[in-house]
Amino acid sequence: MFKTNPETHDLFRTPVDEVFIRNHLGRPQGLDADSWTLTVEGLVERPLRLDFQALQRLPQTEFTAVHECFGNPLHPTVPTRAVTNLEWVGVPLAEVLALAGPLPEARHVWLEGADRADFAGESDVNFLKDLPLEQARTEVVLAHRMNGEPLRPDHGYPVRAVAPLMFGTNSVKWLTRIVLAADRAEHLFTTRLYTRVLPGESEVRPVREKDVSSKLLSLRDGSTVPAGVRELAGYAWSSTEVTAVEVAVDDADWQPAELDARGPHPTWQRFRLRHDLAPGRHRIRCRATDSVGRVQPLTGDRNAVHEIAVVAE
Ligand code: MTE
Repeated sequence: MFKTNPETHDLFRTPVDEVFIRNHLGRPQGLDADSWTLTVEGLVERPLRLDFQALQRLPQTEFTAVHECFGNPLHPTVPTRAVTNLEWVGVPLAEVLALAGPLPEARHVWLEGADRADFAGESDVNFLKDLPLEQARTEVVLAHRMNGEPLRPDHGYPVRAVAPLMFGTNSVKWLTRIVLAADRAEHLFTTRLYTRVLPGESEVRPVREKDVSSKLLSLRDGSTVPAGVRELAGYAWSSTEVTAVEVAVDDADWQPAELDARGPHPTWQRFRLRHDLAPGRHRIRCRATDSVGRVQPLTGDRNAVHEIAVVAE
């Protein structure tokens, strides 16, 4: 897919040990593959309860995708750049929905985790996300493996949803209940937190499709590097393919970087630009554009251009 740069610590596939963990309600106790079940209920012809063996017998899919945290839902415009690229194995949600048979009036899928706690002033709340039925049917996978190993407890063991084109908040961990409904779920994690107004719009939307973004990884922010020709490299991603990445050093113009194609899966894409760093302090920035024409803003939003500072000597 790409040649690893000896200057670069990053990898195409992020090691599980380095994957961020976001548990709003703590980790539920006592969930394992032997006792886990998933119920599918609500507006379906055949309500059902699947156990882990039954899930394993359904057709499996394997894919690599960017897994990105939206950031703090109370500060939705602050960049956190918590992003990874992971390989998943699981069952397409479509397979499970076909067993249950959604009724014609079903329009939304509610995905519920087994974790519960007091959070943001609400007591005994669970983790729930809702998605439009057709989007959930085509995009969501019920995953049980991450990077070739069973999910670790903090990442949703034994089964979690993965919505690979969306922010990580939609990928419900410790998934135990799916409800088919006519309406959206009114809930702390659906209509109150993880919502936003996109630039130029007035409508409040749920946080779903990933933004276009990029991150410089070949040089560490604040580091001292040898002066001379360096590879300025990193990854770019979006809910669609990234079509261009530009890099700017100090106040010079944006220069087009070399960019890998995305391939069949919604992975991140590596970019690189060789640049002669003169001795001294430098500011390096990267900016991605995706196939629907979205460009990272210079400042002011969670996906603002990534900037690092290095000293070359
Ligand atoms: N699912 C449950 N059940 N509980 C949670 O707190 N956090 C969400 C999502 N799914 C969460 C959850 C958020 S905000 C993110 S970013 C991802 O899980 C993080 O997944 P990870 O911890 O496996 O990296």
